[in-house]
Amino acid sequence: ATYNPATGAKICDVEEAGGTMESVDTGKPFLHSFFIDLEGSIKTLRYFAGWADKIQGKTMPVDDNFVCFTKHEPIGVCGAIIPWNFPLLMFVWKIAPALCCGNTVLVKPAEQTPLTALHMGALIKEAGFPPGVVNILPGFGHTAGAAIASHMGVNKVAFTGSTEVGKLIQEAAGRSNLKRVTLELGGKNPCIVFADADLRKAVEEVQQGAFFNQGQACTAASRVFVDEAVYEEFVRRSVENAKKLVAGDPMDPRTSHGPQIDQQHFDKIMRLIESGKREGAKLECGGFALQDKGLFIQPAVFSGVQDHMRIAKEEIFGPVQCILKFKTLEEVIQRANDTEYGLAAAVFTKNMDRALRLSNALQSGTVWVNCYNALHAQTPFGGFKMSGFGRELSEYALSEYTEIKAVTIKLTEDLGESGKRAPE
Ligand code: NAI
Ligand code: MG
Repeated sequence: ATYNPATGAKICDVEEAGGTMESVDTGKPFLHSFFIDLEGSIKTLRYFAGWADKIQGKTMPVDDNFVCFTKHEPIGVCGAIIPWNFPLLMFVWKIAPALCCGNTVLVKPAEQTPLTALHMGALIKEAGFPPGVVNILPGFGHTAGAAIASHMGVNKVAFTGSTEVGKLIQEAAGRSNLKRVTLELGGKNPCIVFADADLRKAVEEVQQGAFFNQGQACTAASRVFVDEAVYEEFVRRSVENAKKLVAGDPMDPRTSHGPQIDQQHFDKIMRLIESGKREGAKLECGGFALQDKGLFIQPAVFSGVQDHMRIAKEEIFGPVQCILKFKTLEEVIQRANDTEYGLAAAVFTKNMDRALRLSNALQSGTVWVNCYNALHAQTPFGGFKMSGFGRELSEYALSEYTEIKAVTIKLTEDLGESGKRAPE
């Protein structure tokens, strides 16, 4: 049995099984699977369940002899192609809004991580869903995924993954039936720390942002811009903090850092770390493979990172924190926005005027102030620029899963003057 460290209560078997399965499949520490992936999934399901009987249109005042109203109708068959970094959470982010709007879904889990999706399939059956409402199709991207993207019978596809595959999906939709497409792609998320910030908290939040899920997150805090006045101090504390992380068995509750998802991905991260060293950034700590432990990488902190370096431009998707230095507000806004991505950004300062100015200026779908990875089912999530389009979660997601029908009725019976609207 596992106990909730916060309450001391025994974790129930179904939940423990879900968390265990997610850790076995992805390598993420059990407590993360349990408190973030599983909790987040349950909250998302509950949130969208509340919308199911509130999907409704509007009435529009038009000319006197017309009545016009809209209906928000299901799109039909909604395909979902999801990645391996948050298998259960992404499954739920896709099926919950789709189902509450009356659609059916066809989900393709990532080839690396099919377990929780299949287990959810069994639970959905047990719960008594009609056959055919939720369909799960494990398989590879270029076969099963591509078939969904180009299928004439699929009316919408929602995708989370790489920008490269996002483009292929958009193309396939264009070549087939112009199915509706929503894309949640990568990020190279700027995180800006001002000298007046609570430095201890900023160091912790930013590093959580960088290393969470072994760095395999589209929201990863991958470009950390620090005010020159506190730069040295910030780097020193970040290194101190990074050294406290414990890599090891994901099922051990003391473990804070798990292995990368697979060999290919591990190799990509190691190559990027090498490029950082070669291009002249200073590797302050970590960045090496842990011997005899499989695909573990000791979390890395780079200081002296310059905007032109590969580690400052490309999505690493690994436990690598890149710390850059800035002098002025104008400069940091320009540099933060100088990327093809626009998923998330964060600002750490006690000056709310400055935080609000930055939240206006930053080109990204999310701006966090004095926090990081603060995601809620009630808040929209998605990208600007090449981080994709469409929004997941929140009321905004509903419009991605409905077609709007306008019904316009002409009134034929003439009531004369008495039937007109009263003068204003
Ligand atoms: P990917 O984009 O290839 O895989 C994501 C999903 O798309 C998987 O289900 C895969 O089977 C499917 N897929 C692959 N090729 C497809 C195709 N031609 N047609 C339809 N579906 C296809 O991502 P991959 O290769 O796992 O990771 C590569 C990089 O992508 C990572 O290093 C990271 O930078 C980024 N990535 C971003 C994610 C995010 O959350 N935005 C999640 C996963 C990866
Ligand atoms: Mg791929």
